[in-house]
Amino acid sequence: MNNHVLCQRARECLPGGVSHELRYREPYPIYFERAKGAEKWDVEGKRYIDFKLGAASQILGHAHPEIAEAVARQMTRMPYTADCHPLEVEWAEWLCRLFPSAERVRFAGSGTEATMLAFRLGRAHSGRDKVLRIDGHFHGWHDMLLKGSKPGTNSPPSLGVPQVVSNLAVVTQPDLQVISDALENDCEIGTIFVEASGANYGSVPLPEGFLSGIRELTSKTGHVLIFDEVITGLRWAPGGRQSRDGVTPDLTTLAKVATGGLPGGAVVGRADIMDLLSPGEMRDGLSPPVSHKGTFNAAPMVAAGAVKAMEILSTGDVQNHADAMANRLRDGFNKVFGDLEVEALAYGDSSTCHLYFGGTTIDGLDAAAIRRTSPQLVKGLRDGLLSRGVDFMSFTSCVTGLPHTPELIDEAVDHFRDTISDLIRDGVLL
Ligand SMILES: Cc1ncc(COP(=O)(O)O)c(C=O)c1O
Repeated sequence: MNNHVLCQRARECLPGGVSHELRYREPYPIYFERAKGAEKWDVEGKRYIDFKLGAASQILGHAHPEIAEAVARQMTRMPYTADCHPLEVEWAEWLCRLFPSAERVRFAGSGTEATMLAFRLGRAHSGRDKVLRIDGHFHGWHDMLLKGSKPGTNSPPSLGVPQVVSNLAVVTQPDLQVISDALENDCEIGTIFVEASGANYGSVPLPEGFLSGIRELTSKTGHVLIFDEVITGLRWAPGGRQSRDGVTPDLTTLAKVATGGLPGGAVVGRADIMDLLSPGEMRDGLSPPVSHKGTFNAAPMVAAGAVKAMEILSTGDVQNHADAMANRLRDGFNKVFGDLEVEALAYGDSSTCHLYFGGTTIDGLDAAAIRRTSPQLVKGLRDGLLSRGVDFMSFTSCVTGLPHTPELIDEAVDHFRDTISDLIRDGVLL
């Protein structure tokens, strides 16, 4: 089997040959068939150091033995019956212990589903239909929050999103005065969504004090404040960014690491809002007041892996190691930039590393400016790294995890140096 032939087959049955638009690549994507720890192997047997880690879901590394064992055991014991089961209770108890905002938990099928549900809860609780969301923040692919996910556009990056739905989203910069004015001017806004890291897992960091400021503001105005911690939950700290920074939203959306690196999602939050989902409640003649279903919510196999992941991740040791590895990676990349006299910056919070090629600082820049990298450079960087056996997430960003070692980081930095040298030689990087 080789990548090229697989791509030819794939393009006959999958649109563009892919199952996710970001996996598309010319002339063909790389097809992987084995992964262990921080490494993975493609169908041609080539080995890669992985800084994508399952779109940031595998902080414990690929095929962590304890997760694999928990899932395999559950597969033979009771894979899925669509009933209540003890593991969902245990998993929910873990999230309530770890996340300051979690008084109740409702599991969902993905991060996208979690943000859909959180927005519905926000509308139901506030009685107002509109949401305020921040430019460039990503909350999944559904219609309601797509407008503004591509920075600087104020429109959805997709056909098929009804204008009436887009009209329900107000997009602003993460500026407290601008947001305060928007809330005052538009009394239909009831809910505010914030990606807790800043746009794209922190490639556009939030201004200092923004999270506490918006909490203070919404506590006064009564708007429902939702932190999207799909990336940051259990990565920034066991209790997410909210526990690290001491700011408690009304609702939180979770997935990826919080579901043990397995398919799923969750909304956690204030009991008075979350209990709108309870069939024991009645509001306006409806019981439950907010409807939510989903065949695979809290599926036992996922719950088994997630509970095991909660146990391992609750101490914070994994996160500390991943942070240290990301720090080493950022330092290594910045040394390469310095040595090769490239005006660029490697930066990032927690266990992330992002690259900016427009200068040596991102201070004062908005999401559109930070994320404006030439397609030629993005492709050159990606192709150069892949050919040397290094895979990034989102092309100019990385995440680290438990299985990254100093040796793997240093090996990746060496490949990065060679790739940047080639880009300079070829005139792609000036
Ligand atoms: C912050 C954030 N929210 C929501 C989502 C959507 O999650 P999912 O891909 O599980 O639907 C993502 C996915 O990357 C994300 O990064």
